[in-house]
Amino acid sequence: MKLYAIFFSPTGGTRKVCQLLTSAWQQPAEEIDLSDSRRDFSAISLTAEDICVVAVPSFGGRVPPVAAQRLGQIQGGGARAVFATAYGNRAFEDTLTELEDVLKAAGFRCDAAVAAVAEHSIMHQFAAGRPDARDKEQLEDFSRQICSHLEGGAPGEPAVPGNRPYKELHTIPMVPQTLDTCNRCGICASLCPVQAIPAATPEHTDPQLCISCMRCVQVCPQHARRVAPEILAATSRKLEAVCSQPKENQLFL
Ligand SMILES: Cc1cc2nc3c(=O)[nH]c(=O)nc-3n(C[C@H](O)[C@H](O)[C@H](O)COP(=O)(O)O)c2cc1C
Ligand code: SF4
Ligand code: SF4
Repeated sequence: MKLYAIFFSPTGGTRKVCQLLTSAWQQPAEEIDLSDSRRDFSAISLTAEDICVVAVPSFGGRVPPVAAQRLGQIQGGGARAVFATAYGNRAFEDTLTELEDVLKAAGFRCDAAVAAVAEHSIMHQFAAGRPDARDKEQLEDFSRQICSHLEGGAPGEPAVPGNRPYKELHTIPMVPQTLDTCNRCGICASLCPVQAIPAATPEHTDPQLCISCMRCVQVCPQHARRVAPEILAATSRKLEAVCSQPKENQLFL
């Protein structure tokens, strides 16, 4: 049996959740990073003996389209999937339902699911610091429960919340701006999951390609990329009521 941690994690929260969910198997998980825009995912071929923890962030209550597309290229080969979403304390809506469909179409068997809260990657005041120590304990406990559930034989599909058809894809476009302090080091261009930043002119961003994932903002050593403060403030005010009350992680077996 080989253990895989497969994730799309522009700013690292989803990766943390994915790693915590692999903890019960007590063996190193091979990482497959879906945000690597240069990797050929169709070359990945899994088998029925493999166990994969597959995690994506919820973007607008859906699976980020680029993550769905790259997952769809993997040959699942009957591998068992524990599928998870990390969301920023608003709601994950149809993310798990869609993720399950994407995985089944790629040939995975879907055995268990988790929805976990992680710091909001745009408005960091929501779920700040999560997953925290309590989340870590809880997600490690979920991992143990899932591990014994899988060892118990053929577990069957978990009932996850969500609708088909999925809610419409709609996120508020927040293309980061580049400030004058940019020294054109190119780090953001090389790490953008969708190649929206040209390497030669990193002060420009293609608004058609940008998925507002915030990785460039996080990785810029000069702090030269940001979402316009007035847009950030207005969106924060709009989401305050639905994002402020801490939400619980959920396990679906
Ligand atoms: C474009 C975008 C859309 C998002 N939409 C939602 C959402 O619908 N519900 C929610 O609770 N959090 C939402 N978030 C927050 C992320 O789901 C959350 O911060 C997640 O942990 C980010 O994963 P990462 O740290 O792996 O990049 C959104 C974040 C981004 C960047
Ligand atoms: S990482 Fe920052 S400094 Fe480097 S090119 Fe991008 S915006 Fe400019
Ligand atoms: S340019 Fe857009 S898609 Fe690329 S890293 Fe920045 S926010 Fe993400």
